[in-house]
Amino acid sequence: MRISGQTGFIGRILKRAGGERAFFLLAFSLCVAGGLTQEVRADTDNDQGTERGAYLTAAGGCYGCHTDIKNDGKPYAGGRALETPFGTFYTPNITADRINGIGSWTDNDFLRALKRGISPSGHYYFPAFPYPSYTKMKDEDALAIKSYLLSLEPVAAENKPHEIAAPFSWRWLQWGWRILFFEEEPYQPPSGASEAVARGGYLVDALTHCGECHTPRNALGGPDSGRYLAGTPNGPDGERVPNITPDSASGIGDWSEGDIVTLLRDGMKPDFDNVQGSMAEAIEHGLSHLTDEDLAAIAAYLKSIPAIATGGS
Ligand code: HEC
Ligand code: HEC
Repeated sequence: MRISGQTGFIGRILKRAGGERAFFLLAFSLCVAGGLTQEVRADTDNDQGTERGAYLTAAGGCYGCHTDIKNDGKPYAGGRALETPFGTFYTPNITADRINGIGSWTDNDFLRALKRGISPSGHYYFPAFPYPSYTKMKDEDALAIKSYLLSLEPVAAENKPHEIAAPFSWRWLQWGWRILFFEEEPYQPPSGASEAVARGGYLVDALTHCGECHTPRNALGGPDSGRYLAGTPNGPDGERVPNITPDSASGIGDWSEGDIVTLLRDGMKPDFDNVQGSMAEAIEHGLSHLTDEDLAAIAAYLKSIPAIATGGS
């Protein structure tokens, strides 16, 4: 890494963690941990609600991470291994089972987990669970997902402990990570965005979490927001993740909106190659279930973001 990049990075940390903000975040985390949360209710006995929940669950990509597909695991029963530089995480059971799953969770437990990264017993989740994206989700969308999950068959699969070494396994250390990198805020469309761009931005940032893979991370595992969606040679699972900003040389500036929709729906690139790896999974278990209208909104949004040129391609 270049020296100037390092200084900029440390400078940003100091600035972000500085004085007032750190105090505010501390006070805020304590309030949240103390349970000072608003009551919001899920709309359970309602088919239309459940259908909307199924759609949003697909958009959120919950199935792919929370199902041990490789070992024929039951849907949403967890146990999928996620390899990271810090060790292996095993996703938990999020079926309606009351003991191993989320069957006994209140609506507020669910919102606090998904949008604040805090468990019902008050511990911090690791950001291998993309709550830093889901935090931008509307409460009613999050609760529609809960209704859908609870409408499915409970599965009594036990949770597997993560295999991560200390100090990364210390959940309380997430406190520091959160101060540096976690902002709890509702989705804000770019100013002057059309309805489609605003919808696309919400889907990209709050639900489909494209940035979790396509935005590079800094040395502490936080997103490098100055390189939003600009790709990385070293993504999750060590995969190369391409630049999807509208830069024509290194990004997808030459793709039409239709090309982007085709990729997200069918996994096929403009040169007729199929995408591979985690993108193929994200498409199969999530994005391909979205309506063409929503995929077009994602494409319109991607066309509207700043182009960032990256070395190579
Ligand atoms: C990239 C993989 C990934 C995706 C996508 C994902 N999760 Fe998770 N989720 C995790 C991991 C890993 C954990 C465990 C985090 C920890 O132990 O700190 C987790 C934890 C959870 C928990 C806490 C369960 C408990 O027993 O404490 C809930 C609830 C949850 N996820 C729901 C969802 C929902 C709903 C979605 C879709 C909107 C989703 N997750 C998408 C990886 C993922
Ligand atoms: C789980 C990680 C992950 C997520 C989430 C993800 N991607 Fe990808 N994406 C990848 C990887 C890895 C590739 C490269 C696949 C390959 O090499 O075939 C890729 C490839 C692409 C490409 C092809 C670009 C090119 O130049 O070939 C596009 C476009 C794309 N992703 C858009 C998106 C959008 C839009 C989202 C959110 C809706 C998204 N991706 C979510 C990992 C991800």
